[in-house]
Amino acid sequence: VIRQLIEAAVCAPSAMNCQPWAFVVVREQSELKRISQEARRYILEEIPDDHPLARLKERVADPDTDILHGAPALLIVCATTTDVWAAQDCAMAAENLMLAAHAVGLGSCWIGLAQPWLNLPTSKASLGLEQHYVPAAPIVLGYPTIKPGRPDRRQAEIHWIGD
Ligand SMILES: Cc1cc2nc3c(=O)[nH]c(=O)nc-3n(C[C@H](O)[C@H](O)[C@H](O)COP(=O)(O)O)c2cc1C
Repeated sequence: VIRQLIEAAVCAPSAMNCQPWAFVVVREQSELKRISQEARRYILEEIPDDHPLARLKERVADPDTDILHGAPALLIVCATTTDVWAAQDCAMAAENLMLAAHAVGLGSCWIGLAQPWLNLPTSKASLGLEQHYVPAAPIVLGYPTIKPGRPDRRQAEIHWIGD
């Protein structure tokens, strides 16, 4: 199933068709636990209080927080270049992957809380990633216990130019 999702991900458009993505798939429970704990610890202990990301601390203050929500799989879309559009290309691939997951009855969630830790040189090395790769979109996957309806959103602000 995960291969099928990655097939959908790589059908995403990318600037000048660079396809600047690679995928890390973590299914080992002990590794998922390690990533969750390390990412949480990093936010709490290493991010200075005056840093823009310090607001994440309140999200992970509870010691029982599993930032991966107990999901059985984590898929990280990584940018393989630092080209100007690589982050956007990877986000397009991630959205394709999330929609494909939904189509086969899986739930997914982008875990931005994992990104500060995933982008450390030591973390990349521990995942076998080349140092110039950028973990751009960490997505957890699992079979959902509830099926939410259409999400509540503010009304879209639209500026019509012309008729
Ligand atoms: C870039 C990005 C980062 C996100 N990071 C997290 C995260 O770390 N943990 C989490 O539970 N949800 C995360 N989310 C999910 C959002 O919190 C969620 O989409 C938003 O609250 C709206 O909820 P809904 O998508 O269920 O309607 C993230 C979403 C995006 C797009």
